[in-house]
Amino acid sequence: MTDRALLDEQIAYYRARAAEYDVTSMPEGDPYAAHGNAVREALRAFEPRGRVLEIAAGTGQWTGLLAELADELVATDASPEMLEINRAKHPDRDVRYEVVDAFGLAPSHAFDAVFFGFFLSHVPPGRFDAFWGVVDGLLAPGGRVFFVDEGRHFEWREDWIDEAAGIVRRPLADGTVHRAVKVLWRPADLEARLTELGWDASVHSEGPFYWGTVSS
Ligand SMILES: C[S@@+](CC[C@H](N)C(=O)[O-])C[C@H]1O[C@@H](n2cnc3c(N)ncnc32)[C@H](O)[C@@H]1O
Repeated sequence: MTDRALLDEQIAYYRARAAEYDVTSMPEGDPYAAHGNAVREALRAFEPRGRVLEIAAGTGQWTGLLAELADELVATDASPEMLEINRAKHPDRDVRYEVVDAFGLAPSHAFDAVFFGFFLSHVPPGRFDAFWGVVDGLLAPGGRVFFVDEGRHFEWREDWIDEAAGIVRRPLADGTVHRAVKVLWRPADLEARLTELGWDASVHSEGPFYWGTVSS
């Protein structure tokens, strides 16, 4: 695939952003906090029990809730810096951390639930089917998926390099500028695409976000 360089840049960007991620993604007085809380309620209602895998866990904005609900939790991310912050936030939680590229997660058919927050929008259009193939390979029979992300909205704008290809420019506090992937799905389009891939999918709008559940 020709997008490997872009994916590597995206990983480097998040490794460099780890220390400033929480402040920038959930600023004090976050006007979207109520939407985030509504998604947390939906995740609780989904009941991710048994063996749970979190893809691209980042600094752990969802890991604590997952750890509360799961019997066993494996939190993965390509950035060791992100996972260090995550681990430090959850010292009393029994979470196994693994630094691994989401696209390289080996099929284990071991997990009752797979979760990813704000990662689907970082999957390039050309990798969408392959990514869901990876997810399929992780699920035990009867396994389910819950995801949340930013949808297509007019609340703020990305600095697009190529909107159709889903490539954006992202600056960091140190003045460096990085390329990353950003694909803003409309919930109905995402649900239709997942259905085409053979999943039983349900995707819901929540302010500028969407959340969805999927099972095979
Ligand atoms: C927008 S953050 C979301 C973090 C967390 N899930 C949350 O909701 O706060 C995207 C995360 O994806 C991770 N990431 C980026 N590319 C990745 C890849 N190819 N494989 C695994 N993780 C990746 C980044 O390190 C970062 O932690």
